[in-house]
Amino acid sequence: MKFSRILGVAAALAVAPVMAQEAATVSAAPEAEPAPVTALETDDSPATWGDAAAGAAKAAVCAACHGMDGNAADPQYPKLAGQHEQYIARQLALFKSGERQNAIMLGFAATLSAQDMRDIGAHYASQKALPGVADDSVIADGPNAGRKFYEVGQALWRSGDADRGIPACQACHGPAGAGVPGTYPAIAGQHAAYTALQLKAFRDGQVWGQGDRANAVMAGVAARLTDEEIQALASFAEGLHHIADAAEAGAVAQGAKE
Ligand code: HEC
Ligand code: HEC
Repeated sequence: MKFSRILGVAAALAVAPVMAQEAATVSAAPEAEPAPVTALETDDSPATWGDAAAGAAKAAVCAACHGMDGNAADPQYPKLAGQHEQYIARQLALFKSGERQNAIMLGFAATLSAQDMRDIGAHYASQKALPGVADDSVIADGPNAGRKFYEVGQALWRSGDADRGIPACQACHGPAGAGVPGTYPAIAGQHAAYTALQLKAFRDGQVWGQGDRANAVMAGVAARLTDEEIQALASFAEGLHHIADAAEAGAVAQGAKE
């Protein structure tokens, strides 16, 4: 399948949850059967789906920053473990083309073929994301005084804030932050520092991709978040356990507390 088509679907899907402020539980759709493709039309359409074993070898050079198993130890580098194949492949393609700007990643993506990107994506998707710890310290002052940091994030994650036009994160990223393969990235367990950095950049208008590859969803989502809310959301997400079908609020809440 061509990425442009995937993104078209993503864009169409993306509109609904933003409108529906009360999107309760979203369960991950099973990944579609890989369609047999005979020719490489563009760099973004590899002939086959990723091969995790081949990807493990190709990802050896990435371990220095992202960790051997994709669980980066240093919070300045995002965890890749448990992230979806298509999402990783797309980001690598965007780094390579400069549509997502990062000097370090430009260098590492530059030599990768479209098939390398899928293989590497399949490798990380097969790894298990290790959860972090949510910040349960109490906020001293301001509009959320007396509430714990992660509680502020949890409320927005689950319900958003209709009055301010902020959608519930779980409408797209799922109640347990596992995302949906092909459309919404997994966030569960991600380092809060990285998540906060991206949310701030989205709020400032960051859009990854250009033309029909542009994905402007998050710029709209983050537009009205305060700094404190961004910290709280990032902290809550770090504490989430990456459970594919965690429809149970208990399991999710457990993740937030640990
Ligand atoms: C020297 C450190 C370093 C190395 C080595 C490195 N990366 Fe990265 N990577 C980064 C940084 C920093 C970011 C965050 C970029 C940003 O903020 O946009 C990143 C981001 C990413 C992302 C985006 C993650 C997301 O959640 O959106 C992917 C995918 C990725 N790297 C894959 C790779 C792969 C594959 C390799 C090896 C071929 C690799 N990286 C090697 C530092 C590194
Ligand atoms: C309408 C669907 C939708 C909603 C609602 C949504 N997101 Fe996203 N989010 C996306 C998509 C799509 C991407 C991938 C963006 C891209 O690839 O350009 C994304 C990406 C992200 C990323 C970057 C992930 C990475 O690995 O770099 C973070 C962090 C994030 N979202 C957090 C949130 C938070 C927090 C909320 C709630 C305030 C939220 N999102 C609500 C669709 C959504």
